[in-house]
Amino acid sequence: MSSNLFRPSFGTYPHVLVGRDALLDEFEDTFDGLLDLTGLTVLLSGQRGMGKTVLLDAYARAARSAGWLVISDASSDGLLDRLSRDHLPRLLQVHAEQPRTKLTSGSVSPGPVGAGGGWDERYPAESTLRSQIAELTDALRPSGRGLVITVDEIQSAALEELHKLGEILQYARREDRMLAFAGAGLSTPIEELLDHPGATFLRRAEHHTIGPVSRPDVRTALAQTIADGHREIDVHALDRAADAAAGYPFMIQLVGYYTLKNAAPTGPVDAAAVDAGITAARRRLGRLVHATALRPLSDVDRTYLLAMAQDDRPSRTGEIAKRMGVTAQYAGEYRRRLIRDGIIEPAGHGKVRFTIPYTADHLREHAAHDALEDLADETS
Ligand SMILES: Nc1ncnc2c1ncn2[C@@H]1O[C@H](COP(=O)(O)OP(=O)(O)OP(=O)(O)O)[C@@H](O)[C@H]1O
Ligand SMILES: [Mg+2]
Repeated sequence: MSSNLFRPSFGTYPHVLVGRDALLDEFEDTFDGLLDLTGLTVLLSGQRGMGKTVLLDAYARAARSAGWLVISDASSDGLLDRLSRDHLPRLLQVHAEQPRTKLTSGSVSPGPVGAGGGWDERYPAESTLRSQIAELTDALRPSGRGLVITVDEIQSAALEELHKLGEILQYARREDRMLAFAGAGLSTPIEELLDHPGATFLRRAEHHTIGPVSRPDVRTALAQTIADGHREIDVHALDRAADAAAGYPFMIQLVGYYTLKNAAPTGPVDAAAVDAGITAARRRLGRLVHATALRPLSDVDRTYLLAMAQDDRPSRTGEIAKRMGVTAQYAGEYRRRLIRDGIIEPAGHGKVRFTIPYTADHLREHAAHDALEDLADETS
């Protein structure tokens, strides 16, 4: 029986994870020997769909297989509260030596690390949090294990909460506790976060930028996932699919998934199935990624992007201003904003390119569609 093992949705661990071996080895080493403490504070940043959540998961898996306990959360408001009222009490219940009675009351005594006067009262959970972490890491220490906290979408964390979390980590380091932290989030907001005085601990983290994967890796992911699902694909079809994924991890899953969906039930997957798969994959990418990213933009932002979309390679910024009929300075303002929003990125001196494949095609298709609608409105 053949099956479709591609996973075209965000945050889902792929059947075959490619192009991240060095990082995965590092994660394993961190929890294996623990000679190198730098791996205990990790920050992953990258554009949408590059595989940050999956790698955060890989970090957690590496920790778990070395026996560490893992708490995973996404940083919406109330992160610290959830840690101290939900995650930590649950783990303490199982792993701490003393039976716990008052864990969710928020009235646990500050314990060995002290209350550390001067804490902001807006987060009363905090001294509790520190003592809970102290208790848990003390309980785990004899078996050489520790605790990992992973936080996804860290760019949307309340700065104050991150600041507190940073202090908690710092205390843990000072006291030699086995506490690890890994965070992940979108590139540009992360860069801004790093500039903020409240997020010093993130500046000291081991920072990995998660980018596209190489063509051979894309090919491996496609071929192996198809083979493991008991199908075959002919070489030309595979090449075509690999080209279409354009090194973008999310697109590997999309192209693979829709290719198999369009393949005949038996025999090798052929180029026709791949072509139908690419069309479906691009449509879904447009809906899930491009449309979401482009929706909040202003008309001028769009004009800038449309001017870029005329090129098949990185665009010269001077040329874009000319096409828009504005000064380079005026266009520069929009370029900066679009870079900040992660839609485009610098591509060498005086050049920019789109961060996600097929953005230009999406813009062109929609511009044509909008123009037709306008025409229909005028003539009706
Ligand atoms: N290295 C990889 N090899 C194969 N597939 C991958 C790889 N990394 C991610 N994927 C797949 O790509 C998709 C997106 O991954 P993920 O959700 O981790 O992206 P993300 O960077 O967290 O995106 P977002 O910024 O939207 O949160 C998932 O379907 C995942 O299975
Ligand atoms: Mg994610």
